[in-house]
Amino acid sequence: MKVLHFGSVITLSALPLRGWCSSLSDYALQRVLQDASPIFGKYAKDVADKSEWMKKYADDTQIVHMNIPGTHDSSTWNYTQATQESLRGITDLNEVTVPVAETFRCQERPFIDMLSMGIRAFDLRYALDPTNTTLVFYHSQALLSETATVDDVLFGFYKWLDDHPSETLLLSFQYEGSTAKYASNNAAVQTQIFNTLTSPVAQSYFPQRKNTLGTLGESRGKIILLRRFDLDQLPASYTDKLPGLHFSPSLWTDNSPDITLTYNTNDNLTAYIEDYYQPLTPTGSTAAENIKWKYNATTRNIVEATTKHADSLFWTWASSENTENTPPDWPKIMALGNGTAITPKGGVNHHLVPFFRQQRGKRVGIVMFDFFDQPDDLIDVFLSI
Ligand SMILES: *[C@@H]1O[C@H](CO)[C@@H](O)[C@H](O)[C@H]1NC(C)=O
Ligand SMILES: *[C@@H]1O[C@H](CO)[C@@H](O)[C@H](O)[C@H]1NC(C)=O
Ligand SMILES: *[C@@H]1O[C@H](CO)[C@@H](O)[C@H](O)[C@H]1NC(C)=O
Ligand SMILES: *[C@@H]1O[C@H](CO)[C@@H](O)[C@H](O)[C@H]1NC(C)=O
Ligand SMILES: *[C@@H]1O[C@H](CO)[C@@H](O)[C@H](O)[C@H]1NC(C)=O
Repeated sequence: MKVLHFGSVITLSALPLRGWCSSLSDYALQRVLQDASPIFGKYAKDVADKSEWMKKYADDTQIVHMNIPGTHDSSTWNYTQATQESLRGITDLNEVTVPVAETFRCQERPFIDMLSMGIRAFDLRYALDPTNTTLVFYHSQALLSETATVDDVLFGFYKWLDDHPSETLLLSFQYEGSTAKYASNNAAVQTQIFNTLTSPVAQSYFPQRKNTLGTLGESRGKIILLRRFDLDQLPASYTDKLPGLHFSPSLWTDNSPDITLTYNTNDNLTAYIEDYYQPLTPTGSTAAENIKWKYNATTRNIVEATTKHADSLFWTWASSENTENTPPDWPKIMALGNGTAITPKGGVNHHLVPFFRQQRGKRVGIVMFDFFDQPDDLIDVFLSI
């Protein structure tokens, strides 16, 4: 009797309710993805050939041994002068001068395309929006969208991982300074990023391991946090609850071609990082000279990755600018050349293609690119190392 009664309750009222719930949650997700789209791009389930490239690696592969392509300042892909103009009303609240859009733009394809085209590491820079309400994305003074919050964009990654459960993503989160006149990495900011990264949904997508990358199998369908921020305004118990690897900004030497950063003192796990984003060439150096310096620093770190410290993390940034130079070398010029006879072979990206072809079978580690989609074969060549 009891069982039958219970069964009839399920049949008569719960089933229709469940159907209704599922369409409401679909609708809610669609809405979040729509809000995320200025940063994530318009979500579409893709079947591109590089959308599941991690399938060919065994579960027991150590992530530290893998070659993983990433994008530097990933959120800048739609930051044109028109976007800057459209945000000017709200950006004025920040009371900072925002230089021309080319200074900040480092990409031109949305996240959804990056994912389909094989990118697995993302460089995400957050701060409070100009009304101090939500965490949004910036590149220095440039607000990249007022409406797409860090929370919204994470749902884009979660949904994509549900659609591609063989893949692992590495998300680098960094507090971006100098976004507003009095902005700082204060307790309000730190509480918001903590809540975002420890919410129930985040806990189900971020493996709760600390200070080690682990194996691919442990992180398929999940996100490894590369934490480039401190929670120094909150009690230590907050920091204890965050998963992933910690790269304290205080240890990440600015504009350095050669950073050695220990992210796990117990096991002496060290990261070897090149982040020489502004070559220290004499003012007036040509675009070609700046590109040569950056290429030099990039390949030096990658050659170390192929030959040394097999179980340590190598994280190389192929991205750069020389905006202090005359004329300025924007990120795009550094990555792709300036389209004149002074850079006949293009930029850093073009020079890296033949270099990567020579690294077959080796470990190069994580490499972050600007304008990763050019030249056409850059990521294909990288993934076939
Ligand atoms: C990209 O920027 C343009 C110009 O500001 C805007 O019209 C367009 O909606 C943006 N694209 C997305 C996906 O938000
Ligand atoms: C946002 O916070 C900063 C730092 O506390 C403050 O100076 C600024 O006036 C606030 N902006 C708004 C619009 O409330
Ligand atoms: C930690 O590792 C580095 C090389 O990765 C080595 O130079 C150093 O001696 C090691 N330190 C300890 C305490 O084992
Ligand atoms: C290309 O770079 C050279 C050397 O830096 C510079 O003189 C020239 O003005 C640049 N041309 C363009 C179109 O940016
Ligand atoms: C190239 O890199 C080496 C080693 O880091 C450095 O000593 C040298 O000055 C660099 N040369 C140029 C042209 O950047």
